[in-house]
Amino acid sequence: MTIIVTGGAGFIGSNFIFYMLKAHPDYRIVCLDKLTYAGNLSTLSGVMEQKNFRFVKLDICDREGVFGLFREEKPDIVVNFAAESHVDRSIDDPGVFLQTNVIGTSVLLDACRAFGTGRFHQVSTDEVYGDLPLDRPDLFFTEQTPIHASSPYSASKASADLLVMAYHRTYGLPATISRCSNTYGPYHFPEKLIPLMIANCLNDRPLPVYGQGLNVRDWLYVEDHCRAIDLIIHKGRAGEVYNVGGHNEMRNIDIVKLICRELGKPESLITYVTDRKGHDMRYAIDPTKIHDELGWLPVTKFADGIKKTIRWYLDNRDWWQDIISGEYTKYYEKMYGNRGKA
Ligand code: NAD
Ligand code: TYD
Repeated sequence: MTIIVTGGAGFIGSNFIFYMLKAHPDYRIVCLDKLTYAGNLSTLSGVMEQKNFRFVKLDICDREGVFGLFREEKPDIVVNFAAESHVDRSIDDPGVFLQTNVIGTSVLLDACRAFGTGRFHQVSTDEVYGDLPLDRPDLFFTEQTPIHASSPYSASKASADLLVMAYHRTYGLPATISRCSNTYGPYHFPEKLIPLMIANCLNDRPLPVYGQGLNVRDWLYVEDHCRAIDLIIHKGRAGEVYNVGGHNEMRNIDIVKLICRELGKPESLITYVTDRKGHDMRYAIDPTKIHDELGWLPVTKFADGIKKTIRWYLDNRDWWQDIISGEYTKYYEKMYGNRGKA
């Protein structure tokens, strides 16, 4: 069994590669990644020499390159993690989101068609559903919730999902989609809420909370996300969407305060800054379908997962210090330098 994993040098993709190499030691895993600012080859250093692992630096938009790799590897399964993934960057400059997330996905779909790939899995997001109001805790995203994207990022992911479903219906491509909630854990790029707050706490820098910090996200530990995808690619029904989430809703401000407590840092580091444009209020997944059909349930409780994550950032300072001292400095200055107080 050969699996092409795109975007495997990023956060969830790398964790998925580690997970799969352990869970299926007889599989061949081929990682295809462009190594954008979010891709980090050092993350994969521990598996680089493994006989059943191959890394290929490639852009999913490069049709010739992608077709060449499919010709060589004849993958049984393709799992597409490759994406521009940060909402704030999409608000600043949407173009590359359309290119990678939509056009890139279409290239992979064409390659799967051309080479008769047995399964294409699209790693999507709950953000395609838009958001839920704070005063309706009884509402959740199900697979029937209409697509209602808010940001250029979520609109590009929604577009890719529509293409995947169209290729299934029109060409009979055996495709599945997972729409997962906010994922956290090791190797999470420090531009995202949890790793950014951990890194800033450890460097005694202000903790920039957007608006009042009342927005709610539904957090899932990365290993649970990986296990859900492993189940879907093996047992999920082609043409189906599976929502993935662990009923773990938290307000941003409560997460930031928890990180302060865990690291023994004062809450006075918290700075309320100008809100994100079009900021989604609440995400909450109903995971009934994946539970009933595939028996998936999250294993890691948030209280344990956040401790493990903080421990990882404490033990792997070189990994994130390297990142935040490079190009990222410019990004941080651009995003937060002139951001007014809320
Ligand atoms: P990430 O930004 O950490 O990693 C993205 C990876 O894709 C990087 O290694 C990058 O180099 C690579 N990449 C980007 N453009 C590419 C291109 N054109 N060709 C080849 N490789 C390219 O992202 P992540 O947080 O690991 O997210 C992975 C996927 O999961 C994304 O599709 C995202 O939409 C989805 N998702 C993320 C979350 C979350 O909370 N992080 C939740 C649900 C779904
Ligand atoms: P993020 O990690 O960017 O994920 P997403 O926007 O895809 O849910 O942000 C999670 C939440 O944290 C979101 O409501 C925005 C908020 N946030 C801040 O308050 N401050 C920050 O510096 C960042 C990066 C995010």
